[in-house]
Amino acid sequence: MRLVLLGPPGAGKGTQAQALSALWGIPQIASGDLLRAAVREGSELGREASSYMERGQLVPDELVLKLIAERFRKKDARDGFILDGFPRNVSQAEALAARLERAGLKLDKVVALMLPDEEIVNRISGRRTCKKCAAMYHVVFEPPAKAGVCDKCGGELYQREDDAEGTVRERIKVYHAMTQPLLDHYGRLEMLAKVDGMGRPDEVEKRVLAAVGEAAEQSARS
Ligand code: AP5
Repeated sequence: MRLVLLGPPGAGKGTQAQALSALWGIPQIASGDLLRAAVREGSELGREASSYMERGQLVPDELVLKLIAERFRKKDARDGFILDGFPRNVSQAEALAARLERAGLKLDKVVALMLPDEEIVNRISGRRTCKKCAAMYHVVFEPPAKAGVCDKCGGELYQREDDAEGTVRERIKVYHAMTQPLLDHYGRLEMLAKVDGMGRPDEVEKRVLAAVGEAAEQSARS
């Protein structure tokens, strides 16, 4: 299965990608996680990317494409993947399609998680992520058993720097301007399924699975 998850900040792309990755045994490839790792390492790419991320702007395509290309070269991505946060604009989508075509591959499905803007700020302001294993929580909707501590590995939970309210509002604007046109792009290619992102994570997961059902069966057969 080669799946793209689209959606505004906080729509639940990461939450759903982690669940599907565990279910299908294929990796979640999250451009935001790759960029944050590059920032933490202090690489030149990370230093360049961080000024865009702090402002809620998209990181230039050439930096993101470089990280994605490196990630695709890893063995675990050969038999499928769930892309979370990439592509983010039409030129990234075209670069992805060209790359897959060169390898004789194509995407199976693109799922867009739909969530109203007002819900986004609620979701993001309560998000906490594990420093060690990247498991995700929400202080109200998915709280850990012990505040600030990961249930899965005991790691410390932290709040992302770009989750400050002003930056979130900028990220929402950028989503509407740059990423939403991708819905039309993939709609024209008849690859798109829009899924309601409201409700509990398990309810959303059922809708995603229903939306990719046929593509998942075809992919398993091929
Ligand atoms: P990125 O890391 O991709 O962030 P994002 O797209 O803004 O999305 P989020 O990670 O904020 O949200 P999500 O949809 O994954 O939701 P989540 O599951 O965490 O990008 C960050 C930055 O990196 C960008 O601003 C940009 O600068 C740069 N970047 C990244 N990719 C790029 C690219 N391709 N090109 C250029 N620049 C790029 O859920 C949010 C919270 O809600 C969590 O607390 C979760 O527990 C909770 N939650 C999830 N689902 C539910 C539910 N159903 N009900 C209740 N709570 C829920």
